[in-house]
Amino acid sequence: MKILILGAKGMLGSALAEEFKNGNEVLAWTREELDISDPEAMAGAITSDIDMIVNAAALTDIDAIEDKLDEAMKVNARPSAVLADICNILGMTYVHFSSEHVFPGRDNRGYDERGKTEPLSVYGSAKAQSEKFALENDRTYLIRTSRLFGDPGTSANAKESFVQDIKNAASSQGSINSVHDEVASPTYVKDLARSVRELVEAKKPYGVYHIVNSGYATWYQFASKVVELSKLNATVAPVARREMPVAAVRPRYGMLVNTKLPQLRSWEEALTEYLQ
Ligand SMILES: NC(=O)c1ccc[n+]([C@@H]2O[C@H](COP(=O)([O-])OP(=O)(O)OC[C@H]3O[C@@H](n4cnc5c(N)ncnc54)[C@H](OP(=O)(O)O)[C@@H]3O)[C@@H](O)[C@H]2O)c1
Repeated sequence: MKILILGAKGMLGSALAEEFKNGNEVLAWTREELDISDPEAMAGAITSDIDMIVNAAALTDIDAIEDKLDEAMKVNARPSAVLADICNILGMTYVHFSSEHVFPGRDNRGYDERGKTEPLSVYGSAKAQSEKFALENDRTYLIRTSRLFGDPGTSANAKESFVQDIKNAASSQGSINSVHDEVASPTYVKDLARSVRELVEAKKPYGVYHIVNSGYATWYQFASKVVELSKLNATVAPVARREMPVAAVRPRYGMLVNTKLPQLRSWEEALTEYLQ
């Protein structure tokens, strides 16, 4: 297949480019090569010989965009409409990524693929809108995932992974506070990328999929595991989100339930491998 990956210097884009390179022709485009918020540039650059477009480009600093609805829609939502349209016209497969932030997080059983979206933040609203756009193409894989960890992106703007943030804070401060009342599904970006390739290669029916490592964790549980596995001499203290306020409201229960694909290994096992 000839595969176009957008946002190819991001954390997920880099992992996908690596995963798909065997046996496929991969075009890995960065923001400099194609700005996805420019519809004309997209229509001009995407050629009909491409079989599949994988959109891993987005604004992912959830708090930074909480007061920037227009920008969030411009980058995180509308490009999905343009890409779905191009894929519809040219008969391409579209792979789009979304997140647990489309859900309200009130249900302590988490959310499966049919869960009703009701976002709490600007990021979540733009993602929910992007999902609707993406599904306007008949050949779309809409993949929701959560709390990605792994090697960070390689662009000049790439931020450190939160695993590294936890390690840095634990090493320098000896004790860290971590939120204990927000649960989600931590996911290793390499496991996600492999699972996306398997999904596509198996030619599974188009539609919505939840791809996450098995098990759930609060930030506190995750940070404690990072400190334990990294053998750092530091303590992790559980605190409520209200004691560590942020601009964007997060779902309290953001667990993504996968009812359609084989379950991935546990996040603890994946984190152990990543830290090794
Ligand atoms: N990270 C998570 O925990 C998580 C969880 C659930 C879903 N997701 C979704 O997974 C996807 C990938 O996320 P990620 O974690 O890999 O994010 P990331 O590391 O921040 O990468 C995003 C990439 O998008 C690029 N980008 C931003 N604006 C662009 C534009 N206008 N045109 C072209 N490229 C642009 C960025 O380029 P620059 O670096 O040059 O700005 C960056 O390389 C996103 O759709 C995200 O919403 C992520």
